Amino acid sequence: MVFKISTLVLSMFLTSQAFSKTCDVNVEGNDQMKFNVSEIVIGKDCTQVKLTLKHVGKLPKTAMGHNIVIAKKSEMATVNADATKAGPTKDYTPSSDKVLVKTKLIGGGESDTVTFDAKKLTAVKDELAFFCTFPGHSALMNGKVVIK
Ligand code: CO
Repeated sequence: MVFKISTLVLSMFLTSQAFSKTCDVNVEGNDQMKFNVSEIVIGKDCTQVKLTLKHVGKLPKTAMGHNIVIAKKSEMATVNADATKAGPTKDYTPSSDKVLVKTKLIGGGESDTVTFDAKKLTAVKDELAFFCTFPGHSALMNGKVVIK
């Protein structure tokens, strides 16, 4: 009985906010149409993820716009098609429910940060990818999202 009660108390404690952990992920994009990382790693112990994209180039977003979209790798093509359909007036931002996470589209000197529940990604069983949905960019601007 004593054991059962302490187990209950412990599990309540573990699920409380005291154990929340926000993990920072920082990615840069440049005027050479490249991200500075090929992999985003998210620890299994993260409860929240704070993702920041910084455009370290000088070109405006109309010429060299960058964002980060995270989706299943198998759905990259569909999401990119949706982004192109959205067009420049919507900053090539795909509206699809296949999009798990997205930042704003930004130009040189700008940055954008999004904070989201880590479960959005850790609960997905398939392979995950991050990429830029500006037309033509994902061929060079893509990488893996690894949960470990
Ligand atoms: Co881009």
